[in-house]
Amino acid sequence: MIRRALARAEITSPSTLDIMFEPVLPISQCPPGTIQRAELHQRPLAVYHLLKPDCFMVSDAPCPHAGAHLADGQLIGANVICPVHHWKMDLATGHCLGVDRVYLRRYACIVEQGLLKVDLDQPLPVPPPAKYHF
Ligand code: FES
Repeated sequence: MIRRALARAEITSPSTLDIMFEPVLPISQCPPGTIQRAELHQRPLAVYHLLKPDCFMVSDAPCPHAGAHLADGQLIGANVICPVHHWKMDLATGHCLGVDRVYLRRYACIVEQGLLKVDLDQPLPVPPPAKYHF
């Protein structure tokens, strides 16, 4: 609850950021184009190092279909392919492509001093499916 309150408060010092974002992995352990396993507060996470754009993404590790670990999947562009039934999830939006109303929870993350840090209290918003854009 304190962390959520801080997320809404104005960020005034690096120590505030340290409270919100917690280290999960040295970025050296997640080379470009790979997915790595991580865990924070007993929550299994998948860490993705996208090639284009060169950035990191973090999501819950269990696939929203039947729970396969997405770090065992395949990273193609900004999509992760589940290793079991091959659902494709768009990391940019969280949408499971071709499956209505099923989403992959992703989290805000930052890189600081060689560490990937995640704020579990900040799931990224899921935009409406493209077919509903006006
Ligand atoms: S467990 Fe991932 S698609 Fe079925």
